[in-house]
Amino acid sequence: MDVTNATVFITGANRGLGLAFAREARRRGAARVYAGMRKTSGFDEPGLIPVRIDVTDKASIAAAAELAADTTLLVNNAGIAALIDGPLAADVEAQSARMFETNYYGVVRVTQAFEPILSNKPQAAIINVLSDIVWLPRPILAPYAASKAAAWNYTNQLRFYLHERRIQVLGLHVGFVDTDLTNGIDVPKASPDDVVRQTYDALAAGKNEIMADKGTMLLKSTLAAEAPGYITPPAGLS
Ligand SMILES: NC(=O)c1ccc[n+]([C@@H]2O[C@H](COP(=O)([O-])OP(=O)(O)OC[C@H]3O[C@@H](n4cnc5c(N)ncnc54)[C@H](OP(=O)(O)O)[C@@H]3O)[C@@H](O)[C@H]2O)c1
Repeated sequence: MDVTNATVFITGANRGLGLAFAREARRRGAARVYAGMRKTSGFDEPGLIPVRIDVTDKASIAAAAELAADTTLLVNNAGIAALIDGPLAADVEAQSARMFETNYYGVVRVTQAFEPILSNKPQAAIINVLSDIVWLPRPILAPYAASKAAAWNYTNQLRFYLHERRIQVLGLHVGFVDTDLTNGIDVPKASPDDVVRQTYDALAAGKNEIMADKGTMLLKSTLAAEAPGYITPPAGLS
C-alpha cells in the first residue's frame, strides 16, 4: 500500500520515530495525517492533526478511533524502554508488566479499535514498530525485549488473520535509532528519517517485514544457522 493519498494514524507521533512517520507521510502526499499523542497541548505542526491517545487507556483509544474513522493506515509506534540489571533483577517483573502494558497490550488494544475501520476500506494497512531485540540477547533490556517479542508474534498472527480482509501488516525491525529513547547510549544509530523512508517504501512494495539497518538484516540472515544470532550474536551486535 502506498502512503500517498492514505489517511494515516500514528501513535506516539509527538516526537521520535512517530513524528518522523507523520512528517514523511505528509511529505509523500497522504490525504490526512493524525498524529496520536498523550498530550496534545502545545503541539502545532502544519499538516498534522493532533489526536489524544494513550495506548494504556481504552477510552482514549475508542475516542481516537471514532475521530479518525477515515484511517486507512495505522502505525503502532508508541513504545517505552527501560534498562535493568538483567533477567534476574529484583524489578524484572514490575518492569516487564510496565513494558507489556504499553508495547504489547497497547498494540493489541489500538489494533482492536481500528481494525473495523480498516476492514471497511478498499485498501488498508498496519505498520507495527518492532525491533532487532526480538532476536538479540541484551540482558539489560530483558523486559523490553520480551514485550517486543510478544508484539512481533502478535504481528505475525495478525498478518495471517487479516490477509482475508485485505489488510497488509508490515513489521518494522531496527536496531538503535537516534531518538530520545537512546539518549546517552553511545553506539551507532540509524536516523529516524531513513528508517521511516525504508518502511514506507517497503509498504508500497507490498512487503510483510522490513529490516531497516544493516545489523538487523545480518541478524535475521542468521536465523536458520546452527548458532543463530539469538545464541551467538553477529560481531558488533552484542
Ligand atoms: N529508538 C530506538 O533505538 C528504537 C529501536 C527499535 C524500535 N524502537 C521503537 O520505536 C518506537 C518509537 O520509539 P522512539 O525511539 O521514537 O522513542 P521516543 O522518542 O521515546 O518516543 C516514544 C513515543 O511513544 C509515546 N508513548 C509512550 N507511551 C505511550 C502511551 N502509553 N500512549 C501513547 N504514546 C506513548 C511517547 O509519548 P510521550 O511523549 O507522551 O512520552 C513518544 O511519543 C517504540 O515502539 C520503540 O520501542 C525504537
